[in-house]
Amino acid sequence: MKKLRNAGIIGTGSCLPDKIVTNQDMEKIVDTTDEWVKTRTGISERRMTDENTATSDLATVAASRALENAGLGPEEIDLILVATVTPDVMFPSTACIVQDNIGAINAAAFDLEAACSGFLYGLAVAENFIKTGYYKNVLVIGAETLTKLVDFTDRNTCVLFGDGAGAAIVSEVPEGYGILSSYIGADGKGGKLLTVPAGGSRIPSSVESVLNRLHYVKMDGKEVFKFAVKIMGDAAEKALEKCGLDKEDIDFLIPHQANRRIIDASIKRLKMPNEKVYINLDKYGNMSSASVAVAIDEASRKGLLKDGDTIVLVGFGGGLTWGSAVLKWKSIGRD
Ligand code: ACO
Repeated sequence: MKKLRNAGIIGTGSCLPDKIVTNQDMEKIVDTTDEWVKTRTGISERRMTDENTATSDLATVAASRALENAGLGPEEIDLILVATVTPDVMFPSTACIVQDNIGAINAAAFDLEAACSGFLYGLAVAENFIKTGYYKNVLVIGAETLTKLVDFTDRNTCVLFGDGAGAAIVSEVPEGYGILSSYIGADGKGGKLLTVPAGGSRIPSSVESVLNRLHYVKMDGKEVFKFAVKIMGDAAEKALEKCGLDKEDIDFLIPHQANRRIIDASIKRLKMPNEKVYINLDKYGNMSSASVAVAIDEASRKGLLKDGDTIVLVGFGGGLTWGSAVLKWKSIGRD
C-alpha cells in the first residue's frame, strides 16, 4: 500500500472588523448588563462588521495573510474550503467569491456548513486531500458575520456572537509533524436547539417570516450548554485516543470560544493549566467557525506554539456537530 503523506498547517492568517461593541454598548440596545454577560459567558466585547462588509471580505483578507505567512502564491492553491453559516449569498459559494478575490485560478472551491465546528470539519477534509496526495495545498477558512443574523431584541443570543475570519493552509509537512489525528461527528436530533428557521426551502423568506423574526438565530442556550460541556471533553479525548496519546501529553489547548464556563469545564476534564489554554472570547465573543481559526493564528503569531508541541483543537456547534484534532506543531512558514 502506498504510504500516506503527513498533512499539517504551514501558514495562518486572520481578519477582524475594526468596530468594537462593548457590553456597555449592548446595555444601550437590549435589557442586559456588563456584569451578567461577563459572569455568565466571559465576553467583554465583540467585533462587528459594517453594512458594506460581508463574510467573503473578511475571508479574503484572512486568506491573503495565510498565503503570505506560508510563502505561497494564490495560484499554488488547489482547493478553497470556506466554513460558514453566514455566506454572502445563498449561492454562489463564499469560497468561489474568495477564489476570485485572491486570484486562486487553479483552485476548486466550495463551502462547508457545520456551524461552529466548521473549521475543524474543514481541517479534517483538507487533511485527507493532502494525505492521499490528491491535492498539494488546501486553503481552509472559517469566516462569519453572525452579527447580521442575530436578533438585537433577543438578549439570550445577541450578546454572544461576533464577526471575524481565520484561515489556514494545509500542505504536506515532515514526518512526525502536522495533523496526528482528527475526529468529527454530528447528532442531527439536536438540530432545533440552534437554528435560523427561515430563508431556506422549508420557510422561504417572506414578509411574514421577517415579521415573525424567523430569519434570526434561535437558540436553546441551556440545552446547548449541557451538550457542549460533555462533547468538548469527549471529542478531545477521542482525537487523542486515535493517535495513541493521552491528556497528559497535551502542551496547548485551543478550544472553540463560545462561553468561558464551557471552556473551564474542558480545562478541568483535560487537567490543563490555564496558561496552556488559548482564550480570546473576552475580546471577540463567539465567532462560530472563525473562533478556532482566529485563535490558532493569534497563538502562532504570539509565539505560544512551539516546535514539537502537541496541540489539541476542539469545538462544537449547531447541527449538532463537533470536531477535534491533535497537531504536532512545526513552525509556520516554508523551510
Ligand atoms: N442579560 C441579562 N439576562 C439574561 C441575558 C442577558 N444577555 N440572557 C439571558 N438572561 C436571563 C434569562 O432571561 C434568564 O432569566 P429568567 O431566569 O428570569 O428567565 C436568566 O438570565 C438565566 O438564563 P439562563 O439561560 O439560565 O442562563 P445561563 O446561565 O444558561 O446562560 C447562556 C445562558 C450564556 C446562553 C448559556 O446557556 C450558554 O452559553 N449556552 C451555550 C450557547 C452556545 O454555546 N451557543 C453557541 C453554539 S455554537 C454555534 O454553532 C453558533
